[in-house]
Amino acid sequence: MKKVAIIGAGNVGATTAYFVAKQRIADIVLIDVVEGLAQSKAEDFLHAGPLQRYNVEITGSNDYAAIRDADVVVHTAGVPRKPGMDRMDLMKTNAGIARIAGRAIAEHAPNAVVIAVANPLDIIALALLRETGFALRNVVGMAGILDSTRFRYFIAAELGVKPEDVNAMVLGGHGDSMVPLARYSSVGGFPLTELLDAETIERLVKRTRTGGGEIVSYLKKGSAFYAPGAAVAQMVAAVVLDRRRLVPASAYLRGEYGHRGIFLGVPVVLGKNGVERIVELDLTADEQAALDASAEHVREGANELDALPA
Ligand code: NAI
Ligand code: 2OP
Repeated sequence: MKKVAIIGAGNVGATTAYFVAKQRIADIVLIDVVEGLAQSKAEDFLHAGPLQRYNVEITGSNDYAAIRDADVVVHTAGVPRKPGMDRMDLMKTNAGIARIAGRAIAEHAPNAVVIAVANPLDIIALALLRETGFALRNVVGMAGILDSTRFRYFIAAELGVKPEDVNAMVLGGHGDSMVPLARYSSVGGFPLTELLDAETIERLVKRTRTGGGEIVSYLKKGSAFYAPGAAVAQMVAAVVLDRRRLVPASAYLRGEYGHRGIFLGVPVVLGKNGVERIVELDLTADEQAALDASAEHVREGANELDALPA
């Protein structure tokens, strides 16, 4: 059985564990600094097994050594946003936590694929890459599948069709400057641009950009976790089962889309090594300009990361 370690047993970590358990593809280890938290969630999930028909091993620990030899490590440890906060506002705290986790991953799970989740996502992925010293393709960030599933849902609701029939692509950094691409989105195989007028599409694009923030303003003390957990579980399955899925995810760029040295949301083929391939789409001048603006925002975050004391 493969092994998936989830660092951070809070809302996103625990929800991810539940969705991964339901896939029955790997044993799961949850890690958290809070005494008893990961253990309580693990035990609770085991009790649900007979009802939900999974029989994988699920354990919880406060000790990073428990991630030993994991095939996939999901990094959710960190504080979530509160109303009025931008994802970048989480940088200092969450980068510090990612550095600790990165060193532990390198020590205990040197062959793992790392899926970054904590925010600011594209910067935390960079911190994890640096701290683990892993190959570029072995570290990938989750954001594009979440942002795209939101876009898919909004399109489906607008058209009154089954969400599963909607495909959508959202590129760029995981922030307000993300780039939903209507031209590469479709419903039942038909281009979205043939089904909705430009004004309606623009409204749905805006709602996608603020979808996470909407939930923060309802919750007041935290951010979304059901859709994020489902998105991470899809990435975990792609890696564990080597599914080679073509999905948007945050990958380290070396010139693709005109950017290098940062993580940015781009279409990737996701398989057993993580990012098996980055797929380069032709963008219009406007789409490229939007992606450049988003990359610039991510680069500012990367500079902030560089300025933090080691
Ligand atoms: P949460 O507060 O419910 O859980 C975070 C957990 O991390 C807590 O249980 C905390 O004790 C733990 N933790 C803190 N330091 C740790 C350490 N050194 N080692 C192990 N565990 C540690 O927060 P939630 O809602 O689960 O969000 C987690 C992160 O994921 C946040 O940064 C949030 O912004 C981000 N997020 C990212 C998304 C994305 O699309 N990439 C989507 C949703 C959330
Ligand atoms: C979201 O988009 C908070 O990044 C998280 O819901």
